Amino acid sequence: MARLRLGVLISGRGSNLQALIDAAADPAFPAEIAVVISNIADAQGLQRATDAGIETCVIDHKVHDGRAAFESALTEALEAYQVRLVCLAGFMRLLTKGFVDHWRDRIINIHPSLLPAFKGLNTHERVLDYGVKFTGCTVHFVRAEMDDGPIIVQGVVPVISGDTPDRLATRVLQVEHRIYPLAVRLVAEGRARVVGNAVNIDVKDHEAEDIILVNPQA
Ligand code: GRF
Repeated sequence: MARLRLGVLISGRGSNLQALIDAAADPAFPAEIAVVISNIADAQGLQRATDAGIETCVIDHKVHDGRAAFESALTEALEAYQVRLVCLAGFMRLLTKGFVDHWRDRIINIHPSLLPAFKGLNTHERVLDYGVKFTGCTVHFVRAEMDDGPIIVQGVVPVISGDTPDRLATRVLQVEHRIYPLAVRLVAEGRARVVGNAVNIDVKDHEAEDIILVNPQA
């Protein structure tokens, strides 16, 4: 069966992009990366894509006259590469309702908290300030409100004594790298169906543990 064509949008380091590149290197993975688009010309993730032989494209928000023009350029590039699923992976621009509606249920994001808690930036600092005992990460379909939308997969990470934002970020990131490819696989295989505000997952027996709880120590 044809693999689902992904367009990955980045702004920086691209470690989640790398996790998708690594997953897609397996011919059995049901998706392939058609293009990586960055709004930042020297984003580290662009080099990761080039190293993997993946096409890249820089669309700088600063050279476009307003959000609508920037987002039209994004959609034009994504459509030129026949992208069927847009994966936000550390993409640091807020997207308008027009763009998000155009790609409705065909655009997903990863966020380093257990949504709907701790939306927005400086997540790990706020997690530690609040004193929650568990945090984690979420892959979700994107809606117009920031870090909102039907949840596909979450991974749970315990907060432990002595955690700093950096230490916590490192442990959460390890789990991000597991759940993003998993979420893409579920979407690509048609096993993640949006029903109202939720996503129904068609779970296979051996996957149940990964989908419900990803433990970094496992
Ligand atoms: C990740 O923590 C992701 O959850 C958030 O931005 C960060 C991107 O990191 N949306 P990377 O560029 O994938 O390494």
